[in-house]
Amino acid sequence: MELKITDGVMGVRPPVTKPHPGFFHQVGEERFRKLVDDHYELIRNSDIAFLFPVNDEDDFTQAKKNAADFLIQISGGHAYFNENRGEPRMVGRHAPFRIDEHARRRWLEFYAKLLPELEKEGINPEYIKSFWDYLDIFSIWMINI
Ligand code: HEM
Repeated sequence: MELKITDGVMGVRPPVTKPHPGFFHQVGEERFRKLVDDHYELIRNSDIAFLFPVNDEDDFTQAKKNAADFLIQISGGHAYFNENRGEPRMVGRHAPFRIDEHARRRWLEFYAKLLPELEKEGINPEYIKSFWDYLDIFSIWMINI
């Protein structure tokens, strides 16, 4: 499976397509949360760790939960994020953090490393690709520097 990273430019917001609902349906909530957990653990030991609350375990755990809540919601699962945090307003929520194209690429590379595991576990590669495409494009919106 080729998970290609599209070049991102600050201020350019390409149209986003939500992940295929089959992705969340096949992966299931437990495995989905593990995916986000694994992603944050890769971040923890990376050159973009400084952006995240790595020095406070409670905050780091909460950050994982918020991210999973959002991604589950956008993938067609329960609206956890709206319930717990309100309107997503993702661009605004990322505004306090200095996210450049390098940070975005690193963030995406960690998903590119983890998603092939799902293919081995039997998840439909087309569903995985649709989740990837969503992350690849929507992450461009988060670039703010
Ligand atoms: C599709 C792309 C992305 C999605 C869906 C996403 C989702 C989220 C969510 C849901 C939160 C929690 C917000 C809250 O509850 O207030 C969050 C926080 C955050 N995200 Fe993203 N994000 C994306 C891309 C990125 C990228 C590319 C970076 C840069 C490396 C990034 C860095 C951060 C940081 C630093 C936080 C704050 C962590 C904290 O202090 O709690 N995000 N993101």
